[in-house]
Amino acid sequence: MNTQLASTADEPTTADRSAAVSTHLELVVADATYLTQDIREIVLRDPCRQNLPSYAPGSHLVIECEGHANPYSLTGSGDSPAEYRISVLHCPDGRGGSSAVHRLGLGERVRVSLPRSAFPPVASARHHLLIAGGIGITPTLSHLRAAASWGKSAELLYTYRPQQAAHLDEIRDLCKRTPSLSLREFAGRNSFRDGLVEALGRQPLGTHLYACGPQNFMESVIAEARKACWPESRLHIEAFGTANLDPGKPFTVHLARTGGSVHIPSGTSLLEALQKSGVSVPNLCRQGVCGECRIPVKKGRPQHRDLYLNEQEKASNATIMCCVSRSHEPELELDI
Ligand code: FES
Repeated sequence: MNTQLASTADEPTTADRSAAVSTHLELVVADATYLTQDIREIVLRDPCRQNLPSYAPGSHLVIECEGHANPYSLTGSGDSPAEYRISVLHCPDGRGGSSAVHRLGLGERVRVSLPRSAFPPVASARHHLLIAGGIGITPTLSHLRAAASWGKSAELLYTYRPQQAAHLDEIRDLCKRTPSLSLREFAGRNSFRDGLVEALGRQPLGTHLYACGPQNFMESVIAEARKACWPESRLHIEAFGTANLDPGKPFTVHLARTGGSVHIPSGTSLLEALQKSGVSVPNLCRQGVCGECRIPVKKGRPQHRDLYLNEQEKASNATIMCCVSRSHEPELELDI
């Protein structure tokens, strides 16, 4: 099914215009297509038909929908885009976010974050080895597009279940038209593992590896790369969600402005502990993706586990996303 937005459904409002200066945008669902039985592609546009903010390959945005806030990779070109495209796998056993996105109707307005980059290609890489499992193809596709338009060489290993491969025709076509790109497809675990081991062993020096897919898929890819002696600095994964975060060590936060202290036990998030002790903190996704729960840090080393802050922001240790992040040290001082 592929349906188009009616041209009269999108009169601009004052809120539309002011959204341009905020960290969020209000966009309309302009198109929706089922790429497979369970994967729905959603196209979002500005109600005033303005171009949208550019983004780096591998970026994601957070959609707020029916009380859920979930991150989805942008699959299109990020260069002054007229639209944002995402492809969403329906997870009936999840927390409901993907079901809500699958229910979005044409012309419906949604609040989305500005795109964030947590999985960019390394500009100095000599070659890119892209490895995608299932829906993990989404950020990989934008890497592939960027490699094609920048004339960079990239090889994609794409493993999927029959009838469940999103964007396959598009990727085959892109690789066919672009001499610097190559594609290998796998439909079984064993053949993929053999293909991965072979590919890991023949990459030129200076290659960077990027993996995206289910958690156990990414772990097995990284384990094979380590076995093949790839340096850690050349391994990159795109992980969404916090389902596999460990409970972490206990620590104590000191609140610089109020003078209080709060103990954070193992298995309790900093956000939960602050709320229990009466400290109110804005929050939305509780997955480290939306940016709502950011708190300034005065002293100490946060253990950043979010997908919101970029590498420089994490290295500065100036703020912490308290819904998922913890402390490397027994004590942390927050500027609240
Ligand atoms: S609540 Fe969304 S990043 Fe913490």
